Amino acid sequence: MSRVALSALLALAALAAAQDTNPTGTQPLTDKHFSYPTGIPEQVDPNDGTRGPQSGYNICNSTTEGPTSNCQTAFINHIDDWCVWAPPTGPTTIGESEGQEVAWCTKPGRGTRLIPAGAIKGVQFLVAKSYIEVLAFLDQTMLNMTPDDFGGELDPHGADLRGNPIGGLLYSNNLPLSGTGDNNTFIQVEEWHNFIGANFSCFKACDPKDPNAGNYCYNRLDRVGIPYVCPNAAQSGVFEMCDSDNQDFPGVYTTNGVTTSYTQPPDSVPIGTLPYTARVPASSNCVTFQSSDLFGALPTPSGASSASSPTSSGASASAGSGSGASSPSRTGASSTGSATPTGGAQNSGAGALHASAFATLAGVVAAVVFFV
Ligand SMILES: *[C@@H]1O[C@H](CO)[C@@H](O)[C@H](O)[C@H]1NC(C)=O
Ligand SMILES: *[C@@H]1O[C@H](CO)[C@@H](O)[C@H](O)[C@H]1NC(C)=O
Ligand SMILES: *[C@@H]1O[C@H](CO)[C@@H](O)[C@H](O)[C@H]1NC(C)=O
Repeated sequence: MSRVALSALLALAALAAAQDTNPTGTQPLTDKHFSYPTGIPEQVDPNDGTRGPQSGYNICNSTTEGPTSNCQTAFINHIDDWCVWAPPTGPTTIGESEGQEVAWCTKPGRGTRLIPAGAIKGVQFLVAKSYIEVLAFLDQTMLNMTPDDFGGELDPHGADLRGNPIGGLLYSNNLPLSGTGDNNTFIQVEEWHNFIGANFSCFKACDPKDPNAGNYCYNRLDRVGIPYVCPNAAQSGVFEMCDSDNQDFPGVYTTNGVTTSYTQPPDSVPIGTLPYTARVPASSNCVTFQSSDLFGALPTPSGASSASSPTSSGASASAGSGSGASSPSRTGASSTGSATPTGGAQNSGAGALHASAFATLAGVVAAVVFFV
């Protein structure tokens, strides 16, 4: 090897090392690793990209907790302990606010907002072999969303790889493969997706120990939506936690022994009828809960009337909040604009989801066939 080649190699190695010690740099969000809680920086994405700076922060504590929190560090742990991403101010749509979403959670103590009492209408929490998934029926108007928003996909990718929300982090103490069984050890989940809209949320956390984490949390089917990305049997009014088989990789299906991969067409092409129906994975060991036992301590939304729905009982313990949400430092998603309902949900009431900024695949309507 020549001297020049060698020094070029050494320079490259030094660059790589420098990047490792600069986890808030410009690499993709999925390549940034932080131990919880002490390894987390104030903002994992302080850099100004074309979509502007990160709107919130990642160090979240008792000072930040409450209805104006802009915490962008979320959790999925147990049926009584999970978050969704939703807008910091509203009413707005996921498509308009995707880069700025903040964590809305069911448990106090982590510096986030709390989902208001009465907003959660049913939950199925699945512990699958390679991921955990929380499916929730919601009144999304209590999360700063417009009532008619069919929503969209939030994930750590996005066209610029900075994530939606920009700089959003996810942790869990209950991962099926890397979990320690101890509720105090939180492991970073680099691959996840949260589809939220039409009063429903699916938030999946793919265990980093599974080499297929990125396949289970595939992020390029945003317009196809929940029936294909999170095929499920969750029921409104039911609160249960179950073990589950893994679903098929979103977009991958098998007919007559032939495995096929569906590719979402470009935004200009309607989704139409999909060539398959996604298999709902089998679940077992379901344990049913009373909503009041899970979420009874959530705060009553300020300014709301006291009546809460029968399925989501008694708010107590108000968090002593002020009202209005604070504004993010920057508003408005960039790029190709707002989410529009597409009618892409063929076989479920869960709704079609669309946030066009995610549709980055080149326009291939045809399915790609590969062999098992
Ligand atoms: C609490 O969080 C805020 C916002 O991230 C941060 O500025 C502040 O330093 C934190 N306080 C402590 C005691 O960690
Ligand atoms: C972990 O927390 C859940 C509730 O979120 C609880 O049901 C479970 O018993 C806890 N596990 C341990 C080992 O403490
Ligand atoms: C969501 O729920 C609210 C309150 O019940 C309702 O007004 C709205 O129509 C629902 N939105 C969708 C898209 O189903």
